[in-house]
Amino acid sequence: MNNNPIGIFDSGVGGLTVWNTLLKRFEKESFIYVSDSKHCPYGNKTDEEITELSIAIVDFLIEKKCKLIVVACNTATSAAIYFLRDKYKVPIVGIEPAIKPASLRSKTGNIGVLATKGTVSGTHFKTTALKFANDKNVITQIGYGLVDQVENNLIYTAQTRDLLRTYITPMLNQNVDFIVLGCTHYPLLSDEINEITEGKVILLEPSEAIAKQVENKLKEYNLESESNSRLTTIYTTGDNLLTIKNVLNQLKMSTKENIKLKRWL
Ligand code: DGL
Repeated sequence: MNNNPIGIFDSGVGGLTVWNTLLKRFEKESFIYVSDSKHCPYGNKTDEEITELSIAIVDFLIEKKCKLIVVACNTATSAAIYFLRDKYKVPIVGIEPAIKPASLRSKTGNIGVLATKGTVSGTHFKTTALKFANDKNVITQIGYGLVDQVENNLIYTAQTRDLLRTYITPMLNQNVDFIVLGCTHYPLLSDEINEITEGKVILLEPSEAIAKQVENKLKEYNLESESNSRLTTIYTTGDNLLTIKNVLNQLKMSTKENIKLKRWL
């Protein structure tokens, strides 16, 4: 059981940013990643639709013998994590915007949050913001269109830059010192965001905290791998192999890393 892979999924390629952190942390673990690019974006879908899509993916990952599942999607976590944890026996780790660390570290007391509509309108987001940042000025912005720009391989374009400028300028006008990237696609836009902020704002994403949680769960369930040959298989439900390859390049993936790309569905 221990050498079985860790399953990861996202509505698209965004969760590869989480996988990248996990790869660095766990040298002996293999991974199966599902990019549900055919149904992307999840951000505008209902919780019921997202839960149904998540169930199909988790069923697939369990069929592939995954020993632990990471929901590398803030929107799917918000919509479906409780349901998934109830339904399946495997440990399931979710992701949520890093509001707490931003709140603890902010000196100006002004924090920007960029996330999808699904994440922002979820009760969990509102509860977290109230609990951890009640005394802060939280400027929340829905990143309309950004996930599509990433999925369509349009990161370094004027259109993406214009969208980001529209979303981030009001945050800068309110003197934010942290911007929480509340969607796993957004770290792929970090270069563009840093250009707009002139590097004066710290961008926070929670993949290190997710890696820590995964480590704890692997230990708790005695699931740590002892294998010396690891493999990642990336399945996509869409026609986006080129986007995936570009994301792997952007993440500076070593050519020595054993990665297979496949279609699913
Ligand atoms: N990467 C997903 C997230 O973290 C994007 C959601 C979407 O497809 O809208 O929320």
